[in-house]
Amino acid sequence: MNGKYTFSIIKPNAVRTGKTGPILSMMNEGGFEITAIKMVQMTLLQAETFYEVHKGKPFYDELVEFMTSGPVVVLILKHENAVEEFRRLIGATDPNKAEPGTIRKTFAVSVKMNAVHGSDSDENAVRESNFFFSDIERFR
Ligand code: CMP
Repeated sequence: MNGKYTFSIIKPNAVRTGKTGPILSMMNEGGFEITAIKMVQMTLLQAETFYEVHKGKPFYDELVEFMTSGPVVVLILKHENAVEEFRRLIGATDPNKAEPGTIRKTFAVSVKMNAVHGSDSDENAVRESNFFFSDIERFR
């Protein structure tokens, strides 16, 4: 369980407020190599499918609405032990609990609008990467 790749999303609030550049810089400065990147706006159906593991949770509808509210930047990032190392760089889901210097502590405004997503396992990194990227859209 220590793969080389993880998947990330720069969320609509962060894109909308011009934080894409600073967040990409923090990813690079954190030692992550960007091996795939694009900007997309998810349809309702795409967001519902992407977040189907959260279906039934109290925040699900709000999450889907938020994630379709504007364009997002999706990425595949390369690093040794990528999933765990990236979760360390972004910090806790709740920005109030995130360590100083993490991406979420710096840019998140709430648990929902927490600036970035990072995969929580190698399996999900693969699933999420394949959801957004075809083979010719990514470098290895
Ligand atoms: P992320 O881990 O990227 O993917 C699931 C998202 O659900 C999470 O980020 C938060 O943005 C959102 N989320 C989790 N818990 C809550 C909550 N209690 N209220 C609102 N949104 C939440």
